Amino acid sequence: MLCLLACTALTLASTTHAQAKPELLGNRTAFIDDLLGQMTVDEKIGQLRLVSIAPDMPAKKLADELAAGRVGGTFNSVTRADNRPLQDGAMRSRLKIPLFFAYDVIHGHRTTFPIGLGLASSWDLDVVATAMRTAAEEAAADGIDMTFAPMVDISRDPRWGRTSEGFGEDPYLVSRIAEVSVRSLQGQQTPIAGNRVMAAVKHFALYGAVEGGRDYNVVNMDPQRMFNDYLPPYKAAVDAGAGAVMVALNSINGTPATSNVWLLQDLLRKQWGFKGLTVSDHGAITELVNHGVAHDETEAAQLAIKAGTDMSMADQVYLGQLPGLLKSGRVQPRELDDAVREILGAKYDMGLFHDPYLRIGRADGDPAEVNAESRLHRAAARTVAQQSMVLLENRNATLPLKKSGTVALVGPLADSHIDMLGSWSGSGVDKQTVTVRQGLQAALEGRAKLVYARGANITEDKHIVDYLNFLNWDDPEVVQDKRSPQAMIDEAVRAARGADVVVAAVGESRGMSHESSSRTQLSLPENQLALLKALKATGKPLVLVLMNGRPLDLNWARENASAILETWYTGLEGGNAIADILLGEVNPSGKLPITFPRSVGQIPSYYNHARLGRPFTEGKPGNYTSQYFEEPNGPLYPFGYGLSYTEFSLSGVTVSQPTMKAGGRVEASVTVKNTGRRAGATVVQLYIRDEAASVVRPVKELKDFRKLTLQPGEEKRVSFTIDAKALQFYNAKLDQVAEPGQFQVQVGLDSKQVKTASFTLLD
Ligand code: BGC
Repeated sequence: MLCLLACTALTLASTTHAQAKPELLGNRTAFIDDLLGQMTVDEKIGQLRLVSIAPDMPAKKLADELAAGRVGGTFNSVTRADNRPLQDGAMRSRLKIPLFFAYDVIHGHRTTFPIGLGLASSWDLDVVATAMRTAAEEAAADGIDMTFAPMVDISRDPRWGRTSEGFGEDPYLVSRIAEVSVRSLQGQQTPIAGNRVMAAVKHFALYGAVEGGRDYNVVNMDPQRMFNDYLPPYKAAVDAGAGAVMVALNSINGTPATSNVWLLQDLLRKQWGFKGLTVSDHGAITELVNHGVAHDETEAAQLAIKAGTDMSMADQVYLGQLPGLLKSGRVQPRELDDAVREILGAKYDMGLFHDPYLRIGRADGDPAEVNAESRLHRAAARTVAQQSMVLLENRNATLPLKKSGTVALVGPLADSHIDMLGSWSGSGVDKQTVTVRQGLQAALEGRAKLVYARGANITEDKHIVDYLNFLNWDDPEVVQDKRSPQAMIDEAVRAARGADVVVAAVGESRGMSHESSSRTQLSLPENQLALLKALKATGKPLVLVLMNGRPLDLNWARENASAILETWYTGLEGGNAIADILLGEVNPSGKLPITFPRSVGQIPSYYNHARLGRPFTEGKPGNYTSQYFEEPNGPLYPFGYGLSYTEFSLSGVTVSQPTMKAGGRVEASVTVKNTGRRAGATVVQLYIRDEAASVVRPVKELKDFRKLTLQPGEEKRVSFTIDAKALQFYNAKLDQVAEPGQFQVQVGLDSKQVKTASFTLLD
């Protein structure tokens, strides 16, 4: 009954829109087939274009293209007032097929939340859901229909600048985040409700494994690693109902993703049953010529459409080449229709055939000021940011800080609004962010004195500054203090000498961890390290507040700092959230979603590496084992690691029975106790190790986790249900199997320090 009413209402609302028969609107397939039947070849080709709203597409030209039905969607226009005339243009076209409006809403829209690595550090799916739902609501309120998110590329190489955007190195954790992100962005309604947006999961596939961490490079990977480690997050997003998939820029074992029939058809559509839209990445179809798999743009278009890249982002190749390709028979009408059907289907699923202005609304409802404070969600931003930081060191209980005496705050990132925003700031406005200086000032007001000195620039390397300022920003972002490095250090040292404690906000400017920002070093820039060394020499306790979008080389900091707080980029309310942690209003509970290697030379360094014939074992002689002889081996900080202001113990790891029947279950349980003096939250992590299998398996794999809060002295028994699914992997034939035999259960508060039990899976 409910459906009947809703469907009737939708049908009535639709009569003025696309020229398909309104009575068909309740039947997706019939509606799309009917519309497709009315389209000319040119109109069909027009639908395949996703146009960037940029200076190379002036308004007049765009209006003509729209009226001629030559555009399927646009991206980068982000207000209702900007999008409305574009939709009006589409409504003047012969068939009135609505446009959709897309944008990169990666970690927030007007309210900027922590970057992907920060969200993942919360190990709290409700926290991720809050960020994604809020982002979707804000984007929808600005007339946006689709976001190019979530970005779920597994990254094991922190040299890659886009590590910042993703959720880390682990297939299980990233998959859970992928699912919750899709559900929170899209909501549960079909078509997607007017206050949510369609998710285009990216970058399909394996983009995080580019060679040497160099952006846009090749990916070469064996199928077992693909299926066991890198593909699960995309699959999780597809299974959660992602309406679209963005195709990656890289090649995979010699074939670019954009022209990869195996990837886009055999795997995505046939094996995984994906029924949505595929969108190329920016200019990727033309780039098939650069990859050297197409002679020219004609062949590039032919390869891409035949492989199943439905929509072409920001290039003219389909528009220019498909008419000829169809005429010559190199592309079949059916292949064009298949792509158009997916685009129309996505528009249907976004609710646009029911109402092209679903998210744009009426002009009299437009916000008077798009950046108005009232449109921001500061409380949510602060709570999410509080959960996204990881305490790496805390010697002599330096933190929390006392709310008395004098605090010296130094560092190039201590008062930098723009860097609070992080790598993809959506429509976030730098001036609206709270810096560490502002956050600490507000929190200490009337209780302790705060003195500030910049202390250092991000870097003194002019070449790097120029590069960062040349990225795609509207204004130069890395603004240099013209004083000499020594003068800045001297000022900071004077401030430190007069203080009880020094807080140094150091790390990378946001552009250093970004698309096209691969690094050869993970160290802090030299001048920042020089500042830290001078501060250390004052003998004052030194607290590092790190801002960065990738694991850094923290060897010096680990030995010398009194405390280290990894904040990543915390977003709009970052400064307040950081002050909340530094002053103990909130007890830190984040855990690393990615390994911190000891040095660039030890990359890749990830916890779920394969078993070896000659493994290196810490504390044992290294010769003739797999290791480096000039420095300690293994991570500096392991995956899953993070401290609290209280302590926790784990004891009594048990399994409910020694054997598990095929199709059965085993419960693994552990007692967690807060042995310290403050309430706090921690994350209990369940890892499983297959003791002997038909192929080499990892030393351990995360299979479940639970975040829980305990009062001082409180203990709880935590149980995890292990079923055959948790034991499955893709074998040499790429069959997903759970092989009988012994399994070790490892439970820990990080991936390294674990307590074990075991059980046997029976035949
Ligand atoms: C990036 C994508 C992004 C697109 C549109 C590309 O350069 O690789 O992640 O969605 O631009 O902005």
